[in-house]
Amino acid sequence: MQKIAILTSGGDAPGMNAAIRAVVRTALHKGIQVMGVQRGYAGLINGELIPMNRSSVSDIIHRGGTILRTARCPEFKKEEVREKAAKILKAYGIDALVVIGGDGSFTGAKLLSKLGVKTVGIPGTIDNDLVYTDYTIGFDTALNTVIDAIDKVRDTSTSHERVSILEVMGRDCGDLALYAGIAGGAEYIITPEKGFSRDELCKVILEGKQNGKVHNLILLAEGVGGAQELAEYVENVTGIETRATVLGHIQRGGSPTATDRILASRMGAKAVEVLLEGKTSRVIGIRDNKIIDEDIDEALALERKFDDELFDLSEAISS
Ligand code: ADP
Ligand code: F6P
Repeated sequence: MQKIAILTSGGDAPGMNAAIRAVVRTALHKGIQVMGVQRGYAGLINGELIPMNRSSVSDIIHRGGTILRTARCPEFKKEEVREKAAKILKAYGIDALVVIGGDGSFTGAKLLSKLGVKTVGIPGTIDNDLVYTDYTIGFDTALNTVIDAIDKVRDTSTSHERVSILEVMGRDCGDLALYAGIAGGAEYIITPEKGFSRDELCKVILEGKQNGKVHNLILLAEGVGGAQELAEYVENVTGIETRATVLGHIQRGGSPTATDRILASRMGAKAVEVLLEGKTSRVIGIRDNKIIDEDIDEALALERKFDDELFDLSEAISS
């Protein structure tokens, strides 16, 4: 292993820079050269590769986003486009490609590896929607951003004695809503995995009011969606003033938490070690606080599991 390339793909996530830094520094320490691919797979097929050294990754561990930039590149779903990418990597003398991203980016890496490119994936997404790993890089930071927003909305919700519905990201995964709902003390959490009944939600809100609650914080995952419409429904049925807040991209940016920086550093170093062991088509993860690597096909084939225990806990302590 003499030269590797690294790219970030899909939605940016806080901690991606810390992962890039760990990959570059670990590789250089082992005598491996590193090329950075700019703008994800889109940059790869355009040949946007730059050499990276120790100072390329100086002063970035605390920065959100990704210094390599990122992109969504729908053309990468075409085999001929991936063949072009494989040829470019070969022309640059690249022995392996490190892909930091979510499940879409991993699917791209998996298909690229079928063309003979050695790949390893590092999970970077705020969605925490990769089943094989307990946590993805960026989730903890996004979670803390959401909690900060909840605490602020709570003040207004209490002052006006309103219902507040907060819609959070996560695609079709409810983890961000579930974790933020628990940590933020929400009265009700709505996730795609569990679904919900509007009537039951209104009943819980009215019971809360009877029991002296002055606010009602409802966490809604974007995979269920429709915060504004739900707010209008709740207000009509309960007669309590209700407001919707869609947090949006504020959840993706910002300086990564210490947890995400450490996770990213551990995963970045592991990715290089895995390649040095001669493995390919692997993804890095964390399970029971141990950094692991797993076959990419197996990891992507796993069925989504929802944390029922955590959901039950949220129900038990919310009212
Ligand atoms: P994430 O990696 O965060 O899940 P996306 O789902 O948008 O984000 O995927 C990022 C990129 O990965 C896509 O823009 C595309 O370039 C690549 N990708 C996604 N799905 C596939 C697929 N089925 N085949 C090949 N490449 C894919
Ligand atoms: O995957 C990260 C994510 O922020 C999702 O939570 C969200 O559904 C999506 O990306 C938004 O994508 P975009 O930034 O392209 O609007």
